[in-house]
Amino acid sequence: MTARLIEGNAVAEAIRNELRKRISDLSAEGIRPGLAVIMVGDDPGSAVYVRMKEKESTELGILSRTIKLPADTPESKLLELIDELNADPKIHGLLVQMPVPKHIDPEKVIMRISPEKDVDGFHPVNVGKMLIGDRTGFLSCTPHGIQVMMERSGIETAGRHVVICGRSNIVGKPMAALLMQKGKGADATVTVCHSKTKDMPSFTRQADILIVAMGSPQFIKEDMVKDGAVVIDVGMNRVPDAAAKKGYRLVGDVDFEAVSRKASAITPVPGGVGLMTRVLLMENTVKAAEKTKKR
Ligand code: GUN
Repeated sequence: MTARLIEGNAVAEAIRNELRKRISDLSAEGIRPGLAVIMVGDDPGSAVYVRMKEKESTELGILSRTIKLPADTPESKLLELIDELNADPKIHGLLVQMPVPKHIDPEKVIMRISPEKDVDGFHPVNVGKMLIGDRTGFLSCTPHGIQVMMERSGIETAGRHVVICGRSNIVGKPMAALLMQKGKGADATVTVCHSKTKDMPSFTRQADILIVAMGSPQFIKEDMVKDGAVVIDVGMNRVPDAAAKKGYRLVGDVDFEAVSRKASAITPVPGGVGLMTRVLLMENTVKAAEKTKKR
């Protein structure tokens, strides 16, 4: 079997078009959605993500504020800045790019962001709402992006066995929570594998849908995948490549070429899940702005 490519771009563009309409409706009421992104330190990978979030916001007409702080910024200063942005009526969505430097406690940072502006969906109030199936909060962008991408690409999840590799708070755990819910784009039977799982291939080979978020370049090989499975690759790894202009290339957590021969559908890296994460962040920002109208 040769896998169909699930391209993030087509789905992301359809969502952008819907957002343009919602943004124009808000504009008619004098509201422009605003997103603030704080980055502490100068991790090159994070810098790329932050730049792409800025570009996506600006292209949609969302007010974008990127605040870069030096790596030695005291935790108290960062928390003060969050307080200021929590109180700023022009800013509807606020996030701090992770990871933060070691002297800053990421839990404290997440707890300080107002749940009403937590467009990352990382605050316990939003995580809790997601877990009980309450859609009034903000869903975490990457897992929600994957759910939407599958729904809009005609991939049925109801009654299917989804195996998730990785148990992070950003991807694995919320992904499992979303897909096990009752309802559209969910109703799956979910297994979560992680670094302490014994004989991981025995689980991945049972997957109708395999979602991989391990941060391990090309970890999933052909013999770990069932014939005809759908494979969603959340990995984004830089591997050294002397022939590449930048000296590295980006690869996912899946051995794309080999697995493509066996899967029925697969996401590319780059050009797959990453695009969805960004566009769902924009959707959360628009949702946050719309909520201010209802108050
Ligand atoms: N670092 C990696 N992914 C994310 C994300 O979705 N949000 C934030 N804030 N930081 C990240």
